[in-house]
Amino acid sequence: MIYSRIIGTGSYLPEQLMTNADFEKLIDTTDQWIVERTGIKVRHVAAENELTSDLAVAAARRALEAANVVPANIDLVIVGTTTPDRVFPSTACIVQAKLGIANASPAFDVQAVCSGFIYALATANNFIKAGQARTALVIGAETLSRITDYTDRTNCILWGDGAGAVVLTASEEPGIISTHIHADGRYQDLLYVDGGPSMGNGEKAAMRMQGNAVFKMAVNTLDAIVDETLAANGMEKSDIDWLVPHQANIRIIQATGKKLGLPPERVVVTVDQHGNTSAASIPLAFDTAVRDGRIKRGQTLLMEAFGGGFTWGSALVKY
Ligand SMILES: CC(C)(COP(=O)(O)OP(=O)(O)OC[C@H]1O[C@@H](n2cnc3c(N)ncnc32)[C@H](O)[C@@H]1OP(=O)(O)O)[C@@H](O)C(=O)NCCC(=O)NCCS
Repeated sequence: MIYSRIIGTGSYLPEQLMTNADFEKLIDTTDQWIVERTGIKVRHVAAENELTSDLAVAAARRALEAANVVPANIDLVIVGTTTPDRVFPSTACIVQAKLGIANASPAFDVQAVCSGFIYALATANNFIKAGQARTALVIGAETLSRITDYTDRTNCILWGDGAGAVVLTASEEPGIISTHIHADGRYQDLLYVDGGPSMGNGEKAAMRMQGNAVFKMAVNTLDAIVDETLAANGMEKSDIDWLVPHQANIRIIQATGKKLGLPPERVVVTVDQHGNTSAASIPLAFDTAVRDGRIKRGQTLLMEAFGGGFTWGSALVKY
């Protein structure tokens, strides 16, 4: 039996910061309101000439270095993103070229909004388990600042730019224990971008959201995915060492942590430092906790995400 295992992590946040004080100058809001409702203190914003693929490449280089893998040995690149550089080529193809991977192995994007990293990880895991790839680069990367309406105070305070990456390789032992991905397209009106290439207004498109309704759906759906993941593996809550959640909102994260019966110190939280970076947020949080020594080899992690689509999913990982 072939499994896949994570052998390196990396992340990248652009230099430019956008603090709650900056938003106080821009819209009718306060630092206190933002911190209480979201837990966010600061976001990173890509420079004018910095594209999603640049963020992705920076995170990928760090993951490759940590894994001690040279780009030429990567035989699959998957990028989870909602903010690709261009409609085409895919950001994964651009990343493949920028990293100098010239072995004609597959590279493609996965569009599942905030669940993008879980979808990408699930896809790469299946490629490796099927013997169709040996060493995969799985990236979540976003420049959400490019689709944010900074006059819409009900959601502009949430979003940030960033990227995270993992290197997965074939292994005789798991690794990725299981992945679970879902979608329900009936809720598009609650969270969407109000334009795109086919609608003919792509350049002005921005995110729109009914925050309250999304919040409730997210909490309930993530509760259910925790149950589903544990049941599928015959595991108890107490078998989980770490929750590595999508970093959308501290209150959603806390609700899932509570559901798992985990103390706050076993829940990785980085949302305060970069806001909601959609597909980038799980690998950003994961890399942070690996590099600061909290997450150790042999521990069991539950990753989960919920996002536009709606899409949602989880990955149970032995690190
Ligand atoms: C967006 C979100 C923070 C708003 O918080 P909330 O508690 O639901 O707030 P509400 O939308 O009910 O608004 C409460 C009040 O705050 C006001 N408000 C909205 N945005 C504000 C802002 N930036 N600053 C200050 N006040 C604001 C509203 O106008 C409203 O005022 P009213 O009571 O006078 O009408 C919250 O709904 C949320 O986090 N939702 C989930 C978002 C998410 O994570 N989406 C991505 C999933 S991947």
